Amino acid sequence: MRSLNHPLEPEKAYLCRRLPAEIEVALRDRFCVSVNQQDALLSPAEIAENAKGASVLLVTATERIDGELLRKLAPTLRTVATLSVGVDHIDLFSARELGIDVLHTPDVLSDACAEIALMLLLNASRRGFEADRLVRTGHWAGWAPTQLLGKGLVGKRLGIFGMGRIGRAIATRARAFGMDIHYHNRSRLAPAIAQDAIYHATLDSLCRNSDALMVAAPGAPELKGALDRAHIAALLPGAVVVNISRGDIVDDDALIDALQSGHVFAAGLDVFANEPCIDPRYRTLDNAFLSPHIGSATHETRNAMGWLLIDGIEALRRGERPANLLS
Ligand code: DGY
Repeated sequence: MRSLNHPLEPEKAYLCRRLPAEIEVALRDRFCVSVNQQDALLSPAEIAENAKGASVLLVTATERIDGELLRKLAPTLRTVATLSVGVDHIDLFSARELGIDVLHTPDVLSDACAEIALMLLLNASRRGFEADRLVRTGHWAGWAPTQLLGKGLVGKRLGIFGMGRIGRAIATRARAFGMDIHYHNRSRLAPAIAQDAIYHATLDSLCRNSDALMVAAPGAPELKGALDRAHIAALLPGAVVVNISRGDIVDDDALIDALQSGHVFAAGLDVFANEPCIDPRYRTLDNAFLSPHIGSATHETRNAMGWLLIDGIEALRRGERPANLLS
């Protein structure tokens, strides 16, 4: 049992999205909670209105927490807690200026995200969408020697763009599938952490040496469009592309052209620019395996993310500095 730490005057918390039941109960134990009951996406203006007077704002990667919103809530707001490891939706600079703490959820979602990364890699490489459709639609006429031939993973090079906690969790699993690991990262990892992974100083070099490219870099304004047309052209013919990070890292026009021409054999995408309004051309591509941003979507992980935020808020209130504090 977790020890409860009831303040005498419960602080007000506003939840921009519905959270797992266990987490909502725990938050209600500690705060005077209001919730966006409809769970519909809220604009910054709507959040500013709904969260007036709150000292804690629970958000997710679907909300845009810009400087104007933070300034409106600043008179009472002490903590923004985001149920995500990514923080590209939050104006951290303004939060820092206003003295508002920002908590996020690193580490606890790395395994779940790595599992989805492998799901995408396997489904893209082994034509999971077409296979499922063949059976589901009743068009399967039976086993055939040349039916739905895909690409095996054993002995292939997996290029991981972003070798942070999630990238390394992906590498662990991909090694078990017999893949050789290459990576590009802001900085080279210490040998004990990199293990046998081969470092590339540029994304271009990684692309030229990858049978499959895994985008696992954190979302950040400076990475917008990083996997551009030139990088996609540099990929080995027939490469597979997977993205579990943020959709806007990839140039959609270039990737779609490459999927249509066959230069890229297949893609596995869990994230998209402008979610949920994805580029409609992806829906028409048999060689694109698509999933709706479910990297961390397991019961265990979402609860762990929620508890990490609650523990972080409690630590802040005790005057401590939790490890998941950003600003
Ligand atoms: C994250 O944690 O950043 C995931 O993308 C979910 O938002």
